[in-house]
Amino acid sequence: MSLNPSYPQAIHPLVERINRAAQRCTSAGGSLRFESDIVRRDLVAAAEQLLMAARSPEENVFAIAQQPAQNAALRCAIALGIADALPADGSPRSVDDIASSTGADRSLLSRILRACASTSLLSEPSELYYAHNAVSRTLLSPANRALLTLMFDYNGRAVVALPEFLQARKWQDPGSYTDCSFMLGCRTHLPMWEYRDRDETCRQVFDLGMQSEIVAALSTGKASGPFPFGEELADNNNYNNNNLQDDDTLTIVDLGGGRGQALQEIREEHPQLSAARFVLMDLGPVIENALAAGLPSWIEPVVGSFFEPLPVRDARVYYLRRCLHNWDDAACRTILRNVAAAMDATRSRLLVTDMVVDDTHAAREMAWEDLNMMTIGGVERTERHWHTLLAESGFRVHRIWRNSATEHATIDARLK
Ligand SMILES: C[S@@+](CC[C@H](N)C(=O)[O-])C[C@H]1O[C@@H](n2cnc3c(N)ncnc32)[C@H](O)[C@@H]1O
Repeated sequence: MSLNPSYPQAIHPLVERINRAAQRCTSAGGSLRFESDIVRRDLVAAAEQLLMAARSPEENVFAIAQQPAQNAALRCAIALGIADALPADGSPRSVDDIASSTGADRSLLSRILRACASTSLLSEPSELYYAHNAVSRTLLSPANRALLTLMFDYNGRAVVALPEFLQARKWQDPGSYTDCSFMLGCRTHLPMWEYRDRDETCRQVFDLGMQSEIVAALSTGKASGPFPFGEELADNNNYNNNNLQDDDTLTIVDLGGGRGQALQEIREEHPQLSAARFVLMDLGPVIENALAAGLPSWIEPVVGSFFEPLPVRDARVYYLRRCLHNWDDAACRTILRNVAAAMDATRSRLLVTDMVVDDTHAAREMAWEDLNMMTIGGVERTERHWHTLLAESGFRVHRIWRNSATEHATIDARLK
């Protein structure tokens, strides 16, 4: 086994960096508090680099390659309902007891639980006893379980098929919405959204999964993203090109808004906007699902496709969160031109919350998300790419609000 070339020079500076970050964190009442999220993320980055530096190159590449088995253990734990089978107070339960409540074979179950414990997904306080820890408790949330199921059963299959798909195309292009590795991996002739809307299980896990706090925490930091909705929109005088009349109702239209999760987060985090008109637009089956799941009465549901002229015109805000990265540039131009056609020339603005990718040293989450998007014909975009795409579709970038610690951002765009 060869040694990592960065060893030992990298180790000591990384340990010092970790110590410095740890000093900027305090513990109170059993929880840790970091000076800022940037400090916390720097600690994570340094700890990961330390792990890489301390392992050999063979160990590092093997750690990447063995991830499918870890994913499988997690997916089995979800399917078996392990989170509900363990005592919520963190006390241990024996494999025998868990086997009798889940109906799984004891020896099979012990191998799955052992695999989960090996990645700290569960605690293993003593031989053949398992208990909840902070990670396994995330599986108590149905929305989190739905997201992880979506990532394994659909995105996972699509991404596993990606090398075969690209090789068949001689590595010349990433495919498109109607010809993509999602279709190869999920063995369907339907592209992503059509497949989801016809497959009840997929629709349920997708729509519920989009409400998961894992997505919110990882993607936008603050649930509603980095754009200060309250400050920017509650005060009419703060509006660029201000010519609002006193009786103007602030209308926010969330395009492709799923079950209205973004609107709910915005209203909760910015109570000064509670008198606004909140409109949720999505495809018919999604709106149906949102209503069945109990949409709050203050959200106005509208069935529509952003590939057609928009049914709500002249709204102050058209919001597209985590939608445009699903589509290639040609499709995005169609969507954006439909938004532009619905906008009032001076009073409307477009807000896009998505990744704005750094030109170098891309974060792992971004790289994962970009390949994930590639499987359905989408892409994560750099700042330059966003400027070009928006300009080609009739917009100018007014301001980019960045999340301080991730590559997620909200682009405030106006008509040219
Ligand atoms: C990745 S999800 C994002 C959901 C939500 N905006 C969020 O941030 O949680 C993309 C959304 O786009 C919707 N969508 C797909 N095609 C659409 C279309 N043609 N018109 C409107 N919405 C569409 C999907 O139904 C889905 O809700």
